[in-house]
Amino acid sequence: EIPHLSLCVSCPDFERAAKAVLPHKSYIYASTSANTGLSLKTNLDDWSRINFRPRVMRNVGDVDTHRSIFGHSSPYPFYISPMGTLGAIHPGAEPEMVKGAVRKGAHMVVSTASTKTSEQIMQTYVDEAKRLNGASPSRLFYQYYMPVDRKKAIDLMHIVKKAGYNGLWITVDTPVLGKRTADRVLQAEEAIAVGVEEDATAEWETGNENSFAPSMGGRPVSGQLSPHTTWEDLKWIRKEWDGPIVLKGIQCAEDAKLALEYRCQGILLSNHGGRQLHTAPSSLMTLLEIRTYCPEVIGKLEIFLDGGLRDGSDVLKALCLGATAVGVGRPFMYALAAYGAQGVERCIDVLSEELATGMRLLGITSLDQVRPEMVNATRLLNE
Ligand code: FNR
Repeated sequence: EIPHLSLCVSCPDFERAAKAVLPHKSYIYASTSANTGLSLKTNLDDWSRINFRPRVMRNVGDVDTHRSIFGHSSPYPFYISPMGTLGAIHPGAEPEMVKGAVRKGAHMVVSTASTKTSEQIMQTYVDEAKRLNGASPSRLFYQYYMPVDRKKAIDLMHIVKKAGYNGLWITVDTPVLGKRTADRVLQAEEAIAVGVEEDATAEWETGNENSFAPSMGGRPVSGQLSPHTTWEDLKWIRKEWDGPIVLKGIQCAEDAKLALEYRCQGILLSNHGGRQLHTAPSSLMTLLEIRTYCPEVIGKLEIFLDGGLRDGSDVLKALCLGATAVGVGRPFMYALAAYGAQGVERCIDVLSEELATGMRLLGITSLDQVRPEMVNATRLLNE
């Protein structure tokens, strides 16, 4: 039994609804994390380990929550993170997610591992925007898993560029796939259920990006994830792609500096939703590290982060500390699973309202006013 959509008043409500409606295998795909799940837990916990330092009596009648990503203004400082294989979550797959985003004017990053092609997804965007008389400020960006084969890599970039995506988010935290523990348990359970005697360990080596896309291998497969990528590759990528480049999965200050040296336009601090390196830092921790060791990159690069943001006030904390905008993943996936595009719209509204209320209670009326001194991170830093 799926709860009425109006009962979804905060992000965790969408997960409960999705769990009720999704086949077990699909829920495992969406919710799984690496190893013991510690990185995912840290992502979720760290946001509550820093506090606001609110100012009062500041005339907060009207608030403006707009932010721009590479010049594309959005009514929200958050966007929908790239997640692969949405066809396993909802029959409408990525186009259904796009409809929700466009109707609300939110930006979205589309995954290389999508169920539908990048052109089909862009076509939905175009059609939906047309239906709204071109009124949506929403834009699509492309998450790029670099194919091993150079020619395939270049061809894919050209296809994406021609389709009209507004930026390339190159995922750099996935040279190979992390250990997705719940997927393995599921795999073993399935083997046992059909009477397979041997341990399925031999198969694990080829562990999939998810249980539904066997071609996205955890080891180099032609045209798929590339473990050989280095910083030098950015030089030829830059020749083929003249739009903004963001490195998705930066996890320390040194690499943030390198991204600037290699002339990227943005970095996305992320540990892939806790699905890759066991005990990788939360993106909040990485942001604090950058503030200490290379504050100069903030201001020179657009800084994005994702992982464990489940409330508009989490979004606000990230912006206070210098983020340009933030990505939200699983909540949108769960909303899509249970309610389709309508759920996605609702989830955007929930985060947006929490953000606007948070701004008023913090004592600001525009995101131009966010400052680092509006949060206190000493508890997190001193532990
Ligand atoms: C992801 N993520 C991801 N990232 C990426 O670069 N390419 C991809 O195809 C996927 N696929 C994917 C599937 C699923 C089911 C999840 C949950 C995540 C990572 C994603 O972009 C983002 O970094 C995290 O999801 C952010 O964390 P939260 O908001 O889910 O906690």
